[in-house]
Amino acid sequence: MANRLFRKKSVDQILSDAEHGGSGLAKILGVKDLISLGIAAIVGAGIFSTIGLASYNGGPAVSLLFVFVAFACVFTALSYAQFASTVPVSGSAYTYAYVAFGELFAWIIGWALVLEYAVSNMVVAISWSQYFVSMLEGFGINLPKWMTMAPGYALDAHTKALSVGADQLENIEKVALQAYETAPRFLDMPIIFDMPAGLITVLVTALVYIGIKESQRASNIMVIIKVGIILAVIFGGIFFVKPENWTPFAPNGLAGVMSGVAAVFFAFIGFDSISTTAEECKNPQRDLPRAMIYCLVICAVLYVAITIVLTGMVNYKELNVKDPLAYVFSYVGFDHMAGIISVTSVIAITSALLVFQLAQPRIWMTMSRDGLLWKKFSTIHPKYKTPSFATIVTGFVVAIPALFFKMDFFVDLTSVGTFFAFILVCAGVLYMDHSGLSARSKFKVPYINGKYIVGVGMIIALILTYKYSDENLSHWLEMGSANILIHKSLVIIFWLTWAVLSVMSFKYKFSLLPVIGVLINLYLMSELGASNWIIFVIWLLIGLVIYFSYGYKNSKLNKTKEA
Ligand code: ALA
Repeated sequence: MANRLFRKKSVDQILSDAEHGGSGLAKILGVKDLISLGIAAIVGAGIFSTIGLASYNGGPAVSLLFVFVAFACVFTALSYAQFASTVPVSGSAYTYAYVAFGELFAWIIGWALVLEYAVSNMVVAISWSQYFVSMLEGFGINLPKWMTMAPGYALDAHTKALSVGADQLENIEKVALQAYETAPRFLDMPIIFDMPAGLITVLVTALVYIGIKESQRASNIMVIIKVGIILAVIFGGIFFVKPENWTPFAPNGLAGVMSGVAAVFFAFIGFDSISTTAEECKNPQRDLPRAMIYCLVICAVLYVAITIVLTGMVNYKELNVKDPLAYVFSYVGFDHMAGIISVTSVIAITSALLVFQLAQPRIWMTMSRDGLLWKKFSTIHPKYKTPSFATIVTGFVVAIPALFFKMDFFVDLTSVGTFFAFILVCAGVLYMDHSGLSARSKFKVPYINGKYIVGVGMIIALILTYKYSDENLSHWLEMGSANILIHKSLVIIFWLTWAVLSVMSFKYKFSLLPVIGVLINLYLMSELGASNWIIFVIWLLIGLVIYFSYGYKNSKLNKTKEA
């Protein structure tokens, strides 16, 4: 059984499957298109929305968190780039895991990628809705509040109003209370949903269904608008910066800053999504690695700059709003600019939605070709040349939860799933080096010998942690074993992984950068609340049930063996 679970695909087999299976996808994307698609995916709800709450909790110091997370992403991007140049097919991390770790891991990654693509798009759709609603309000059009948000926000506001009184609510909560109070009732239950979020998902899915070329054109235009807004906020905002807003720099200490990990990381997710278009690239082995790194560097610079400007324009306490980029300008009395930003943001966020809506069906298509998902998922539309059935399923999977659930829940879930995928991709490069597969890579992660550095780094980190962190031994002893298990499992896994990597690096002279990639991603993942990774484990278990009831038996590798 173990043999079957860990059966691997060879690179030759993958390439010949893609070629002879006749993917039927149109090969039209060049490096500029890929950069555009990458930026379209990366710059979205994160920088337009979730940055608000992260800055509110962490203060101006969140800009440093952006730098730190960018490093984690660069190490990961290098690893993705190496894989993409070795196995240039649509499956992204899923396919890479099939080569490196075998089928079971491939399935797990494919399943985790649903969190990165489909679930993150729920966040993007909700963010789109928030900007759309505030844009309409700018034009004096007020949709009924009960059709503009998830019921959870309204119920929370109602509960809070009951306990502390309605006048104690923040503005954002007052609107939610209004939704609760004005909603029509069914059997005494208020009917509340986020209509714009559902609607935009359906529209974007229709565009993606019609074709990659149409999607690409639309995305190119939206990217120009998007980068334009960000630059306008940065250069326009500089004039309103009051340096005193940067003090205190980290008002809620390290804990406040780190509470933004999921939101900040969310803002970077997407650079890897362009690898799912490998079969639609003219020269994937050359262009994908370049495009991924360029996008990431461009976005990192923009993000850090924008965080510094936002937290300089207003006091961080002002930033707990749904549309921070527009809000800061209306706050400083520049309503015109706020209006322009609202309108253009709606267009800009649409492009992020588009790319992920494009990526998810392609992952499912690849899994279906391998026999791990039902055949229908690899149906290609005869006229539009897109994975039609998988695209429609993606539409439903994203639109329905976007109507009813709160954004924060999806942000956390996406981040856990994506960290997990990133860790395995970085680890996969170590495997490639070890097994000699790297010899076939047209792009390689620059090699720095980790033989001693990984272990020495661990010793230094342990000493520093013990000396300076609150999390010292006595704190742990006070926690009790049940709490340690719930809240510290990932921290323990982090240190154990570092120990194992130290030994293996010593033995096999591991390449340092992918090792750092694994460790930084794992560290950031351990900073997410325990409830997130518990939900993630449940998600994985559901995935395993599906795998064992379908993919395990129907895997193409299985059939090849039997034939
Ligand atoms: N990075 C993407 C966004 O912020 C997921 O919307």
